[in-house]
Amino acid sequence: MKEPKNHTAVASRIAWLTGASKGIGRAVALELASAGWVVAASARDAEALASLAVEARDLSGDIHAYPLDVTSETAARDMVARIERDLGAIELAILNAGTHEPVDGSTFTVAPLKRLVDINLMGTAHCLAPVVEQFVARRAGRIAVVASMVGYRGLPTASAYGATKAALINMCEALRVELDRHGVVLSVVTPGFVRTPLTDRNPFPMPFLMEPEDAARRIVQGLAGRRFEIAFPWRFAAIMKLLRLLPYPLFFAATRHLVPKDKSS
Ligand SMILES: NC(=O)c1ccc[n+]([C@@H]2O[C@H](COP(=O)([O-])OP(=O)(O)OC[C@H]3O[C@@H](n4cnc5c(N)ncnc54)[C@H](OP(=O)(O)O)[C@@H]3O)[C@@H](O)[C@H]2O)c1
Repeated sequence: MKEPKNHTAVASRIAWLTGASKGIGRAVALELASAGWVVAASARDAEALASLAVEARDLSGDIHAYPLDVTSETAARDMVARIERDLGAIELAILNAGTHEPVDGSTFTVAPLKRLVDINLMGTAHCLAPVVEQFVARRAGRIAVVASMVGYRGLPTASAYGATKAALINMCEALRVELDRHGVVLSVVTPGFVRTPLTDRNPFPMPFLMEPEDAARRIVQGLAGRRFEIAFPWRFAAIMKLLRLLPYPLFFAATRHLVPKDKSS
């Protein structure tokens, strides 16, 4: 069987990817498979995963469907054990499952925040914990957590989504140096706008919008190195990082116009 084409710092074979049924995750699964990885693909939609596996086979890729709802801690832990039993030791884990719900701040409620915390933050943590356990025990492994540039600073309509992504970035910053000491490399992926079923719902113009295949290539290429953050597209990342440096009065002046018009009065 062909070896992975040097896409990570470790000589990996088995990659586990969550959120693989559509959007960025689906494109990453195909990109990894075309590079020779054996991919264990997880998401809730078992049918979409099965058709992804068939599509990969047609391209001589090797993708296996492992349906999972990441909101279940037990299911996530069992999934890692099952994949390792079936396919062998996971050496690359890309924790990408997530979703977005815009929130009107003037009618802020707990429910959307709780939903997004359950999927984006706790769902990622449920998958991360058993992966860390295995990787630290083996003193090897590569982890990527998909966050978002929206996690850099609070932006209008993203009080729930942004909070989950900021938490992921913060969690990864803390874990990076701790895991380094155990031979495990953890990165955070912070995409700008990528055209997917998730962003197809956005009613506003999305600057520097990218195709998922392009995003997938950048993620897989980024994982070839040890860089902590894989951010793209770089122009949008530069703007968002500049926003991060602004003092509050300037930051709020820059973001005030993002409040939907009929909600700002
Ligand atoms: N698109 C962008 O512009 C953009 C920008 C920055 C960051 N991101 C992040 O990139 C990731 C992928 O986003 P996307 O745009 O590709 O979104 P998407 O097209 O909506 O895909 C989301 C993926 O997550 C899976 N998922 C959602 N809830 C899940 C759950 N409870 N358990 C298991 N899997 C679940 C979905 O599969 P099922 O529905 O089959 O479960 C799907 O495969 C997300 O974390 C998102 O926040 C996206």
